[in-house]
Amino acid sequence: MTDVVVAGGGLVGLAVAWRAARRGLSVTVVDDAPGAGASAAAAGMLAPVAEAGYREERLLRLGLASLAGWPAFAAELEAASGMQVGLRTAGTLVVGFDEDDVRELDSLLLFQHELGLRAGRLTPREARRREPALTPRVRGGLLVEGDHSVDGRAVHAALLAATRGVGVELVGERVAEVVVEDGRAAGVRLASGGVLPAGTTVLALGAHSGALPGVPPLPVRPVKGQILRLAGAEGLLEHTVRALVRGRHVYLVPYGDGGVIVGATVEDRGFDARVTAGGVHDLLHDAIEVVPEVEELELIETLARWRPGTPDNAPLLGYSSLPGLVLATGHHRNGVLLTPVTAEATAELLATGILPEVAAPFTADRFAVGTSEGR
Ligand code: GLY
Repeated sequence: MTDVVVAGGGLVGLAVAWRAARRGLSVTVVDDAPGAGASAAAAGMLAPVAEAGYREERLLRLGLASLAGWPAFAAELEAASGMQVGLRTAGTLVVGFDEDDVRELDSLLLFQHELGLRAGRLTPREARRREPALTPRVRGGLLVEGDHSVDGRAVHAALLAATRGVGVELVGERVAEVVVEDGRAAGVRLASGGVLPAGTTVLALGAHSGALPGVPPLPVRPVKGQILRLAGAEGLLEHTVRALVRGRHVYLVPYGDGGVIVGATVEDRGFDARVTAGGVHDLLHDAIEVVPEVEELELIETLARWRPGTPDNAPLLGYSSLPGLVLATGHHRNGVLLTPVTAEATAELLATGILPEVAAPFTADRFAVGTSEGR
C-alpha cells in the first residue's frame, strides 16, 4: 500500500506528488491523460495583482504567497528535472481603450494601493514606450511589476521528470471512484477495475473533482475557457499584456521562442469542449485591437478546457469531510499561480497532519450551510 495516492496528474496533482515524495512519502499518481486538462490550456500567468477581484482579498493573499514562492519553486524544479520552465519576470501591463475601461483601471489601481501592492499608472505614451507593439489607440495603462508568467506546459513536463526522479509512480488509467471503507477514503478504484489502496487519497482532478463517485459533495463546477496559441512573435512582446477592450477582457502572454497565448473566454456551459467561431473571433478581434501585429502571426492551436470553479473563486484545500481524503482542487483561474503554495501546504499536511496557516481559510467547510461567506 502506498502512503498517498493522488487522483489527477495535472500541474497541481504532480506538484503535490513531487513535494510529498520529497518529504519521504511513497506516492502514486493516477491519470489516463496527465496534463491534458486545464494544465494544457493555462496561459501561465502568475498574476494575483492584475487578477485581483474586488472582495477577493483572502484569495489575493494566497496568490501573493504563492507568487513569492514561484522563483524558488521554478529553480528547484529546473534543477530536479534538467528542464526550463520559462519563468518571465518583466511584469504585466494592463491597458484600457475607452473612458469606462480607464475608469476600471483607476479602480483597480486604487484597490491595489489600498492593499499596499505595487502598481503604477502609465500614460498611453509610457505604456507604448514599454511595449511598442501596443496600438496608439490605448487610452491608459497600469504597470504591475510583480505579476509574472511561466510556460505552463513546460512546468508540467518538468514536473513529470521531477516526480519520476523522486520515485513517484504514475499509473496511466482513469480514476473511477474513491474507495470508502469504514467511513474513510482507502484509495482509488481504476476504470479497469483494480484498486490502489492508500493511506491518504488526494483529489486533484480539477473541474472533474465535483463528480467523482465516493467523494462527498463539493461545490466545483466547470468554467469553460477557450484559448489560442500563435507563433511567429519573436521580440513582439516583453510583458504579459492584459487589456480591457470596451469592457471586454483579453490577455496576451508571450512564451517560449516567439509564442503568444491569447485568452480566454469565461463560459458557464458545463463540459462543453467545442471551440466556437464566436469564441475565436472575439479573442482574435480583441487581441488585434490591442496589438495590431497579431494579425500577421500564425494561429497554431485553439483549445477549450474547464477551470475548476468554486462559489468564491478560491481553491479547496486540506481535509475534506471524508476522513483520509485531502483536497487540492477548485483553483479556478489561478491553477498555475497557486501550484507552489498548494503543493507545499498539501505536502506539509500529508507529512505532519497539520495544514499550514496560509491554506487554512480554504478548507471546504467554509461552504457549510450558513457560512457561505467563509470563516
Ligand atoms: N488565469 C487565466 C484564465 O483563467 O483565463
